[in-house]
Amino acid sequence: MSKRGLRDLPPAALDGKRAVVRVDFNVPLKNGDVADDARIRASVPTINYLRERGARVVLLSHLGRPAGGPDPKYSLRQVLRPLERLLGAPVEFMTDLAAGPSITRRLPRGGVALLENTRFWPGEERNDPALAQSFAALGDFYVNDAFGSAHRAHASTEAVAHLLRPAVAGLLLQTELRYLGEALANPERPFVSVLGGAKISGKIDVIQSLLPRVDEILIGGAMACTFFAARGWEVGTSLVERDRIEMAKGLLVTGGKKLVLPRGAVVAPSLDRAAECREVPSDQIPAGWAVFDIDGATQQDFRARIVAARTVVWNGPMGVFEKPPFDAGTRAVAEALADAKKKGAVVVVGGGDSAAAVAGHEDQFSHVSTGGGASLEFLEGKTLPGVAALEDA
Ligand code: 3PG
Ligand code: MG
Repeated sequence: MSKRGLRDLPPAALDGKRAVVRVDFNVPLKNGDVADDARIRASVPTINYLRERGARVVLLSHLGRPAGGPDPKYSLRQVLRPLERLLGAPVEFMTDLAAGPSITRRLPRGGVALLENTRFWPGEERNDPALAQSFAALGDFYVNDAFGSAHRAHASTEAVAHLLRPAVAGLLLQTELRYLGEALANPERPFVSVLGGAKISGKIDVIQSLLPRVDEILIGGAMACTFFAARGWEVGTSLVERDRIEMAKGLLVTGGKKLVLPRGAVVAPSLDRAAECREVPSDQIPAGWAVFDIDGATQQDFRARIVAARTVVWNGPMGVFEKPPFDAGTRAVAEALADAKKKGAVVVVGGGDSAAAVAGHEDQFSHVSTGGGASLEFLEGKTLPGVAALEDA
């Protein structure tokens, strides 16, 4: 169902009004610095759209998983400077929720305030209506631009949307829903999905939901090893989910030719003994060795299928991409996707690890999602509570 968007609001609904905007500033940190600001950058169009129309912008976000109380390690203060730099404007930081309404009322038109980590209030993750009421008191209407958190029914993503009206989708949220939604609903064919990552368990629902819609699913990552085990092959010391082998057998039957497994793998005795790595066919993994990437033959096979596609959705790395040389398969897939895009295909990269793998090269794809868990749940066909709570178009 399509949702009312920020652009649907008339100028009078924005000018001088206070917008409570849920963003997803849950960014990776390293020694107190933002290690990847992609999610902050992705929120800038909505913030500036509001500022340029005279609205006053009150930002809400969580950061990390604090244990239901304030914890300096997860303070949003750490994103303040990067945010101010991206906006080219000062941002007022609020830690006291009770004082919030008077602070936001004093904001100038076009001014921006950021509340401390929403998860510092214990009611956030309980979707507590009383906490949502305090969030609602910070402004006059609600904008959800936090696609990455839309799979959470929390006070700042769900309950607050029922208390403040209008409650609309921000520009990023709409873009995410458009790309992920259209790829699934109305794909130009061939439609190829590339799935990787460590665990099959997190992806089974995605595979099941995608199988009837796609022409092919290319499987990489450690997840492939559970399928190898399902075929009855030796998998050495590879990461295999033993309790999912039966499920994988079932998927191989239902998937048939649509499920494309790696032809071969890069194996090593352990992650630390990368220098000893070599390529083997998928059914000849030596006992005592583990799979850390797809091999060159698989790179070529996947590449041919990807560049022939008209729609591609990718989620999950092909190997241990943080540790060269096991990044080669993931890089090859990313390059093939970029080439497919050059040939006119719609190419969508899921969030989380796959987004991290293409960080800095986002412009080579049609869309790089800011949602990890959220994009997976969306691909599974689940309703995202943060989206459902918004007004219908
Ligand atoms: C994410 O990064 O997955 C979102 O920001 C949600 O965070 P969470 O998984 O801690 O709920
Ligand atoms: Mg998550």
